[in-house]
Amino acid sequence: MNELRNQLFYKFALVVFIIIMIFEGAMLIALKKSFDTHLKDKLALVASSINPKKFTPTDLIKIQHKYKIFPLFVNIISSHNNLNKKIKLGFFIQRTKDKKEKIIYYITKKNGYIIKISTFYSTNEDKIKIIRTISLLISFIIFLIVLMLGYKFIDTIVTQIEISFKKLKNFNSNVSHELKTPLAIMKSEIEVALMNEEKNCDKTLHSLLQEINYLNDITEKLLFLTKNDLQNCKLTEVDLEELILELYEKYSKKIHISLHIDENDEYIIKGDKTLLKMALSNIIENSIKYKALKIDVTLKKMKNKIILIIKDNGIGIPKDKLPYIFDEFYRVDESHNKEIKGFGLGLSIVKNILQAHRAKIKVKSEKGVEFTIEFPLKELSNH
Ligand SMILES: Nc1ncnc2c1ncn2[C@@H]1O[C@H](COP(=O)(O)OP(=O)(O)OP(=O)(O)O)[C@@H](O)[C@H]1O
Ligand SMILES: [Mg+2]
Repeated sequence: MNELRNQLFYKFALVVFIIIMIFEGAMLIALKKSFDTHLKDKLALVASSINPKKFTPTDLIKIQHKYKIFPLFVNIISSHNNLNKKIKLGFFIQRTKDKKEKIIYYITKKNGYIIKISTFYSTNEDKIKIIRTISLLISFIIFLIVLMLGYKFIDTIVTQIEISFKKLKNFNSNVSHELKTPLAIMKSEIEVALMNEEKNCDKTLHSLLQEINYLNDITEKLLFLTKNDLQNCKLTEVDLEELILELYEKYSKKIHISLHIDENDEYIIKGDKTLLKMALSNIIENSIKYKALKIDVTLKKMKNKIILIIKDNGIGIPKDKLPYIFDEFYRVDESHNKEIKGFGLGLSIVKNILQAHRAKIKVKSEKGVEFTIEFPLKELSNH
């Protein structure tokens, strides 16, 4: 995963670097063009403001200050001179003889004179150099900030991928473990039965059937948990009171159930009745399994939610274990319920079903366990 982190980071850094360089290049070209145009415009303005017939050194000083061009050279020659016929008009850039400076010339004709205006072009380039240095520095700082933010972002994503991978790995090893044990038992039962000369295989068949039931149970639960379409379950109007009465019918022979429901209220939500029944059955079956003698079921209607509380008086769950009981394959300390069989999948199924209904589930344990489920009324009707 560290390799993935580094690879992503290097690629990200390269892309950011290329983008910044393209941006920097484009900006410098645009900057140079605009500086050049500005200088050329100023030279052209100078030319238009000069009167070649009576141009004095004082005029030159005034113009220099007006257009802020330092130094400024103005050369006025009569265009009637034959030698001047060959002179090309327009803008030219030339190096000085010592090659140290560049000079820009603007040559134009006015009132029978040729006006030659020039200044150091290098001054323009110097300004561009300063701006280029500043902008490179700013780009470098932006580059570092983007890299830092990018690294944090990549790190968060990769950490999340790592967590998902670990979960998947754990899930796979738990599944293999859960499947391995009954298969090993079945294998040895069959081997013993084959070696045994007794014809009566009832005991073996009974034990095999038990293991097959176990395998069947776990595969059904696993299939349910890996199903993705839970979010798209079809919702109809479900009367929670009616659902609880059905569960009462089913389980009251096995455990004493006290119902606390205000019959004046209505407890209709939008949901999938079969899934909700499965979730509540899992909670009640846990109470029976974990030695409760009695369950209290309370149904209350609040302003914008319906609250369902299922409280038992069984062996309870240690407080420090409560945050984990909804995790897949989690069982509170095997020694705590060694003789009670289970996969640790029931409450994960409960959590998934309730999540699909946008319902919240909370658990506390003092004497026995108490689950509080909140069904939001508004959200459910928009679901
Ligand atoms: N009512 C309860 N009383 C005491 N402990 C409970 C209760 N409900 C859940 N637990 C604890 O939480 C753990 C997780 O429950 P969960 O229903 O997910 O798994 P399970 O009952 O062990 O197995 P199964 O997948 O068959 O349901 C249980 O192993 C048990 O230790
Ligand atoms: Mg269970």
